[in-house]
Amino acid sequence: MKINKAIFPVAGLGTRFLPATKAQPKEMLPVVDKPLIQYAVEEAYAAGIRQMIFVNGRNKRAIPDHFDTAYELEAELEAAGKKELLALVHSIKPDDMECIYIRQPKALGLGHAVLCAQCVVVNEPFAVLLADDLMVGTPPILKQMVERFADWQASIIAVQEVPDDQTRRYGMVAGTPVNDRMMDMTHIVEKPAPEDAPSRLGVAGRYILTPGIFKEIAAQPRGVGGEIQLTDGIAALMRREKVFAFRYEGRRYDCGSKEGFLEANVELALMHPQLGPGFRSYLKTLEL
Ligand code: UTP
Repeated sequence: MKINKAIFPVAGLGTRFLPATKAQPKEMLPVVDKPLIQYAVEEAYAAGIRQMIFVNGRNKRAIPDHFDTAYELEAELEAAGKKELLALVHSIKPDDMECIYIRQPKALGLGHAVLCAQCVVVNEPFAVLLADDLMVGTPPILKQMVERFADWQASIIAVQEVPDDQTRRYGMVAGTPVNDRMMDMTHIVEKPAPEDAPSRLGVAGRYILTPGIFKEIAAQPRGVGGEIQLTDGIAALMRREKVFAFRYEGRRYDCGSKEGFLEANVELALMHPQLGPGFRSYLKTLEL
């Protein structure tokens, strides 16, 4: 089985990033020159995925608009002979990529958002990408996971070490190592206190899931924060199927938080081929 579909839950309220997220989804916040959602879609595309499923909430227009053809803009760029910019605008949605939009009527939680996409995914394994986690790696993180999936044919959850004082922000996991990066998962708990966390490995926003997850999410009562939690669905799935935790190789920026978003902007600006050198010189002029 191959991964052909990716779900992008983009219906969260983004309260940690108010007021910027009052009238637009946080996934449209730009890091350097691209919205977060575009980084995530490019990561899925690089992993061989061509069907992108967006689970939208309120303020739903900006994301479809970003991936739609912009006739007026393209005509203006064409008329002005701005070929490079035209190619840049076209590259946002390659011709072989399909975008599907689903509405999550109420922000009932990440598990519920994933369940909303069941009618499109139906019966195949799929990826979930939380675009507010901006992931940078070579190869890209989801590609690393899709390559593991080809061997293991089971659900794979991206994890990373988190500091003691941050366990309350993450789904925390534990398991038995099967190789240097993969663990056969035995525990997953949503946002525990440090003393209740089964290890220091926290879930990052990349998942490959088998379709068995839908039945498990549907059977879950409201969990932490009154939301239908994906973590609880995964805990139930683990009782029926193997689920692996994967320590990815790369860097994650929590762009749902203001600090993580600022770090991403500074570091990606420094890495940017055109902007990087000038930005570095500018930073050196600051008296920090
Ligand atoms: P978060 O836990 O970051 O919640 O969601 P949030 O509401 O977006 O943001 P804060 O905490 O209030 O600032 C994790 C991911 O799940 C999506 C979000 O868009 C984000 O990608 N999500 C969350 C949904 O699509 N629907 C929901 O009901 C909840």
